[in-house]
Amino acid sequence: MNKKIKKILNKKNRSKIVCLTAYSKKIASILDKHCDLVLVGDSLGSVLYNYKSTKEVTLEIMINHSKSVRLGVQRSLMIVDMPYNTYRNPREALRNVKLVMKETKCDGVKLEGGKKIISIVKTLVKNRIPVMGHVGILPQTDKKFSFKGKKQKESERIIKDTKLLEEAGVFCVVLECIETKLSKKITEKIKIPTIGIGSSAHCDGQVLVIDDLIGMSESKFKFVKRYIDISKIINGAVKKYKSEVQKKQFPRAKHSFKN
Ligand code: KIV
Repeated sequence: MNKKIKKILNKKNRSKIVCLTAYSKKIASILDKHCDLVLVGDSLGSVLYNYKSTKEVTLEIMINHSKSVRLGVQRSLMIVDMPYNTYRNPREALRNVKLVMKETKCDGVKLEGGKKIISIVKTLVKNRIPVMGHVGILPQTDKKFSFKGKKQKESERIIKDTKLLEEAGVFCVVLECIETKLSKKITEKIKIPTIGIGSSAHCDGQVLVIDDLIGMSESKFKFVKRYIDISKIINGAVKKYKSEVQKKQFPRAKHSFKN
């Protein structure tokens, strides 16, 4: 088994798993110093491309961003989201996942869904491909973005889906926007780690979209915490640059070439 995956599995019931998304090299290299897992999330569709949904994200976009992220990630486990409609059946999934693994040199992939994707997960796992699951809100297919686990039937389905994913061989599972008691129950019920986003502190780990954390997005989600407003800092720097150019304070002799 991949040593980095073993490390993640060993953290269950011991220490929290720290995860963030990255879409390019420089940010990835910063995250690599601190994170156990770096995810090239298809959230890049809304964050970088202003797409209405992640459905519009293509395999080509994911591969290009992942290649950039790979240049910055050495220590952490690097996982790539498989975009919508690229894993509709085991054959299609295997072909596309193999391409992603070959092109990006990532350590594994993440797929959204439960019961419906079990045969796909089993095929990938049989081919020694590390797979991360994703239940709760499924941005690729859900029409409504409200938290999961309000009704008993829904909660039972999510528990069952998670159990099925574990049995199919996923090494960990993202719980997206799952009600607190339910995410606790799932985390206690399964042996693989749960990584929460909007799913309380009961999960074995936590993931956030990096742009939300640093203030480079307009995200107002309840589960987001903004640790710094980096756009304010950039704004200040660009304003100063503009003023110096206009006042002829930049460039100076030391920034210029002379024979
Ligand atoms: O696409 C993404 O960034 C994700 C995480 C938020 C879990 O799936």
